[in-house]
Amino acid sequence: MPPSSDGLGDVLVDQATIEREVARLGAQISGDYAGKRPHLVAVLKGAALFVADLMRTLTIPTTLDFISVVPYPQASASGVVRIRKDLDDPIEGKDVLVVEGICASGLTLSYLLRNFQTRNPASVRVCAFVAKQRERPPEVRLDYVGCQIPDVFVVGYGLDRDERHRNLPYIARVT
Ligand code: IMP
Ligand code: MG
Repeated sequence: MPPSSDGLGDVLVDQATIEREVARLGAQISGDYAGKRPHLVAVLKGAALFVADLMRTLTIPTTLDFISVVPYPQASASGVVRIRKDLDDPIEGKDVLVVEGICASGLTLSYLLRNFQTRNPASVRVCAFVAKQRERPPEVRLDYVGCQIPDVFVVGYGLDRDERHRNLPYIARVT
């Protein structure tokens, strides 16, 4: 895909790769959770497209909930986030699978994992479609990863810059 005047650069994950990796994750998760019913918790808005695709590849029963967090503007580097929209349902006793569109510093997930642990789930695992190659806090274990990318800013497949480009069916660098 050629660079465009829209600020889009190289495609890092094309549509065929997305489909292949989602199917791979779906098969792996379906196997790992055989006999269970994972409770998917998608992190809005970035994971919206991914969770919709991922769910369709799962061959086990699931339930779905959403959470939306926003970093405190002055404190985002400290990992302090605010819950903008909390879960609809309790997660006590459930096998929670947190579904993230992209994990960069891991601070958002670190906060969410700590928050979820206080609600007594049976288990918590994390599935991130994109993981940036960079250091993260040790408690942020990504159990399932679709693709690794360099530490550059990307958009598409649910990911935005200033709310734009979420609808791209591939993941591209922004210039
Ligand atoms: P983290 O807390 O640094 O891991 O970042 C998590 C959040 O930052 C993600 O859920 C995204 O909303 C956003 N984010 C981080 N990197 C990117 C990117 O390259 N493109 C779009 N959003 C990003
Ligand atoms: Mg964003």
